[in-house]
Amino acid sequence: MSRISTIIYYFLIYAIFANTFYLGNSTTLQHGNGIIINVRSFRVRADGRSDDSWAFNAAWEKACNSKGNVTLLIPKGTYLVGPLKLRGPCEQVTSLTVLLKGTLKAKTDLSEYEFGSGWIEFAWINGLTLTGGGVFDGQGAKAWPYNTCPTSSNCDLLPTNLKFVGMNRTTVHDITSLNSKFFHLALVECRDFEGSKLEILAPEDSPNTDGIHLERSSNAPSRVRLSNIYFKNIRGTSLSEVAVTLSCSKGIPCKNIFLQNVHLNLTSGERLPVLTCENVKARYIGIQMPPPCP
Ligand SMILES: *[C@@H]1O[C@H](CO)[C@@H](O)[C@H](O)[C@H]1NC(C)=O
Ligand SMILES: *[C@@H]1O[C@H](CO)[C@@H](O)[C@H](O)[C@H]1NC(C)=O
Ligand SMILES: *[C@@H]1O[C@H](CO)[C@@H](O)[C@H](O)[C@H]1NC(C)=O
Repeated sequence: MSRISTIIYYFLIYAIFANTFYLGNSTTLQHGNGIIINVRSFRVRADGRSDDSWAFNAAWEKACNSKGNVTLLIPKGTYLVGPLKLRGPCEQVTSLTVLLKGTLKAKTDLSEYEFGSGWIEFAWINGLTLTGGGVFDGQGAKAWPYNTCPTSSNCDLLPTNLKFVGMNRTTVHDITSLNSKFFHLALVECRDFEGSKLEILAPEDSPNTDGIHLERSSNAPSRVRLSNIYFKNIRGTSLSEVAVTLSCSKGIPCKNIFLQNVHLNLTSGERLPVLTCENVKARYIGIQMPPPCP
């Protein structure tokens, strides 16, 4: 073989065995039938103290504007980030996987957040998968004293750890939500959502940290309803007596809401957690704690 063809030969062997090679762009890796975008390529500090929001937004832009099957990789490590709005539509993306292996820590300064929003908010995306065994640490302890909702109906809503808005075909599995400032998980106007193997953890003194919150459309004229929402193998603790809220609108009720093996304990341990239901007939499979709505 000539020198060039030997080089090409070894390169091909390498490419086949590694199944991963650079595309000549340090932020993008080819992998199998898709590309990997590593947030570490975007000048993250990953020290848990410096604000890495910029890097996450840049990595998201890159992932969302890519083509085909895209994975956004967040390797092991601790990343401090403020509110992130990760928005679609990622038009040329066939499937988008966010592979969170590390821990995201929320900034604690409440002035950076919009009330009622999510800390990490995914919106208007088709076919998102969020997985990887990582942790969303809302660092709620500093925010909880500012939560007046348990005593006042006219209160400002603190940020929800993970909020999904207007999403189709979402899968979330093997993820931990820790010490959310407010709700752990909220879904608004989502279709075909499957959450499984989720760990929801909050210590004893956290107010209003609902495990799961499904809410009616925030946009009155919207005809989009919550439908085909599946929660399976969810475990953890809730201080708020209401551990799960299913709140749908009268005109456009939710359809096909399934809860399977949901086990959320109250941290106080003395009372049973509560599920509240509004304009929804959920279906229950397996263990149910809180107990099903009548
Ligand atoms: C995306 O992944 C799916 C399944 O893993 C595969 O069938 C499809 O060919 C991939 N598409 C592209 C554009 O790589
Ligand atoms: C989700 O599906 C609905 C109904 O097919 C569609 O109207 C909507 O635009 C889709 N959303 C996105 C983000 O593509
Ligand atoms: C909930 O409490 C029961 C009884 O104390 C315990 O066996 C179970 O492991 C707890 N589950 C979680 C998810 O903490």
